[in-house]
Amino acid sequence: MSTRGSVLKALEEKKGTTVSGEELASRLGISRAAVWKAIRELRREGYRIDAITSKGYCLAPDSDMLSVEGILPHVKVRFMEDRIHVFKSLESTNLTAKKMALEGAPYGTVVIAEEQTKGRGRMGRSFFSPPAGGIYMTFILEPRFDMTKSVLITTAASVAVCKAIKMLAGVDCKIKWVNDIYLGDKKICGILTEAVTDFESGHIDHIVLGIGINYSTAQSAFPHELSGVAGSLFADAPPADGISRNRLIAEIINQVLEINENLESRNFIEEYRSRSFVLGKEILVIPTSGSEKTHSRDGGIPAEALDIDGDGGLVVRYQDGSVQTLNSGEISIRTI
Ligand code: BTN
Repeated sequence: MSTRGSVLKALEEKKGTTVSGEELASRLGISRAAVWKAIRELRREGYRIDAITSKGYCLAPDSDMLSVEGILPHVKVRFMEDRIHVFKSLESTNLTAKKMALEGAPYGTVVIAEEQTKGRGRMGRSFFSPPAGGIYMTFILEPRFDMTKSVLITTAASVAVCKAIKMLAGVDCKIKWVNDIYLGDKKICGILTEAVTDFESGHIDHIVLGIGINYSTAQSAFPHELSGVAGSLFADAPPADGISRNRLIAEIINQVLEINENLESRNFIEEYRSRSFVLGKEILVIPTSGSEKTHSRDGGIPAEALDIDGDGGLVVRYQDGSVQTLNSGEISIRTI
């Protein structure tokens, strides 16, 4: 690790408290001049580091710049040192993760960006990804199922994100099938799972799992078309002491990788069901091509959401009494 990185790691570990230059120098085996040089470099990058006379350096408690050094101390999973990559700006973390997967990046690799210039959403939509207020991260995962069960990965990820948010922010989020996470009546997180396929064999080599969270985006910052539906985790109140994007990213890494290890057990499905706010509701199933059902005026097929099956599929009953399990696609809640 570079001197800059080691100094940042040491400051992140003691964020909000003062560490003397002498302690940093002896702990890292470098000179005090080298410590000072690293502090200067970090400040130039935008870190708020106070120098307190005859005491030392203090990384501001509310410092929230994304960095590997800020994330790693909170990651419980082993061997993640070289698998977390933080970028200032990317087109899309899913896109970069796909490229890295093809170049041999190992499973468990996580790609994170401060902002995305072409954030991707489901169904070909874009995902609003401004700098500073969001979390945009993508995991490279091992494909363990054929694609008919890929919905399991997405449902598991939704539960993992809800658990991480509950642990740190103490709030209970709800899930709209398949993977939209809501706080109150506002969507604060979306998940996009994509397959990386070997062109010749047609085999799925990797799954990339992208998670986008509106962390502290001000309500007024959302574009007009989103402002009625999108919200942020910390829109109303600033995060409590000790909570930061780095900390939440670390907890999401812990939860996603743990849940993914035990995907086959399907233990998380019960929590998914209890967090679902669509069960028992009248919904509209947004048709996929080839659907024979009659559409309502809004373009969806009216149905009732009955259950989540063991693979994360949504069991619905249409108005003609027929029952179907949806493994992909989209629904909306019907307003009657
Ligand atoms: C949706 O709600 O439609 C899914 C949004 C998924 C957004 C995340 S942000 C990180 C990753 N990179 C992307 O380009 N998209 C996903």
